Amino acid sequence: MILYYYVYFCRVSKLNFLLKYVKYRFKSGNEHNIHSPYLFRFYLDVITDENPFYIYNDIESIRSKLLMTDMEITIEDHGAGSKVNSSNKRKIKDVAKNTVKAPKYGQLLFRLVNHFKPNSILELGTSLGISTLYLAGSNKKMKVTTVEGCPSTSKVAQINFDKIGFENIELINDNFDHFLPNYLSKTNQLDFVFFDGNHQKEATINYFNWCVEKAHNKTIFVFDDIHWSEGMTAAWEEIKMHPKITSTVDLFFVGIVFFNSDLSKEDFVLRF
Ligand SMILES: C[S@@+](CC[C@H](N)C(=O)[O-])C[C@H]1O[C@@H](n2cnc3c(N)ncnc32)[C@H](O)[C@@H]1O
Repeated sequence: MILYYYVYFCRVSKLNFLLKYVKYRFKSGNEHNIHSPYLFRFYLDVITDENPFYIYNDIESIRSKLLMTDMEITIEDHGAGSKVNSSNKRKIKDVAKNTVKAPKYGQLLFRLVNHFKPNSILELGTSLGISTLYLAGSNKKMKVTTVEGCPSTSKVAQINFDKIGFENIELINDNFDHFLPNYLSKTNQLDFVFFDGNHQKEATINYFNWCVEKAHNKTIFVFDDIHWSEGMTAAWEEIKMHPKITSTVDLFFVGIVFFNSDLSKEDFVLRF
């Protein structure tokens, strides 16, 4: 009986997610729906830019190897867990398939960093390190601090960082709740933060509230999986209302937040 309800719940939540996505496809606009000249150019030059950068192939070849790795690791779950696997033993290839951002989104992160040129980046949720490589790949002098709670997953990520030879990544194996207050007390400002772990409403809002204190006019926050669950959609709605935030861009699987006071307070739901 319990199994029946579990399967039913998974089906219903998958159906809800699909319906949300269909709604987004109908609602989302393109450059013609953006009246801000700045965001109009941002959409065309950064979000939808399809030019390949040489580093994409190097990162994707690491992903391909992970997708073929049968070795099992023990997952220590610090967040909302997996919707597809409840076991704590997982093959690396399954982690690579189910929790790592797809190339399209990794490459978007690369272009965002390449465009905004932050001095430093904070990533919450390293997993196997694929998104970290995209964040770190455009400027080897810019420091990326990435945080992962699971020790075995962190080890695989570190191997990937060593393999590609990026020396601008500092990987911290810690829980966000423990790491963030300490890190923020020693940090004057945050230029770019990618929130990609612990997809629960309360946790997401907490991390946002802590980090927003260190945001400045040029800061960019990127939130992953803003429609992953009702809780995440609610968190996204609350974050958008924050008085320090001006424009937000909803690409369904990720949300981009601007603090730039030259922009109007507006939410753009754009096709990607
Ligand atoms: C979706 S995955 C990150 C994927 C990665 N950014 C990518 O696209 O390549 C989220 C990761 O965050 C970690 N995580 C979740 N909650 C955490 C917490 N409270 N503290 C530390 N790590 C956490 C999980 O262990 C998981 O590896």
